[in-house]
Amino acid sequence: MASSDVRVLFVCLGNICRSPMAQGIFERMVAERGLEDRVRADSAATSHWHAGEPPDERAQRLLLRRGIDIGHQRGRQVDRDDFHRFDYIVAMDGANRRALEEWCPPELRRKLYQCTSFAPQLDISDVPDPFAGDDETFLYVYDIIEAGCLGLLEHIESAHFAAEPPES
Ligand code: 4NP
Repeated sequence: MASSDVRVLFVCLGNICRSPMAQGIFERMVAERGLEDRVRADSAATSHWHAGEPPDERAQRLLLRRGIDIGHQRGRQVDRDDFHRFDYIVAMDGANRRALEEWCPPELRRKLYQCTSFAPQLDISDVPDPFAGDDETFLYVYDIIEAGCLGLLEHIESAHFAAEPPES
């Protein structure tokens, strides 16, 4: 891994709705900027409830309409290594964030973020849980996640890749 690689883990409760959407949306933004060798993403759950399952059909359909296929993703629970392996661990809501804070070694807590903190213009703190909602709920959630992902990627670009000296 090049020293400039940045690893991002999106985290929600089930890892079948919000965080797989965030991973898919973010990976597409990364690819559009030609950064796929330098910025990697994954997603995970605070629960183990949907481990091994593909993303929720409603999330898959919504993203597929935008040309993003997340059908290959499989749910998994956050594990201890994640706190070491990832640079940005991005919770979808405050409850996920608090669970991560409990599990995360104190010296690594600086890696914990919340998705909406990269989209302060929205003036909301949580990406709402869409699981019990309908397609409209998923659309609403999509827009929030997209804004958060864009802000996160802009942050990463300026914090990690800006003003690099030319290669010799
Ligand atoms: P997610 O949504 O956290 O965005 O993946 C949920 C998925 C499943 C459940 C809750 C939220 N559930 O209760 O099974």
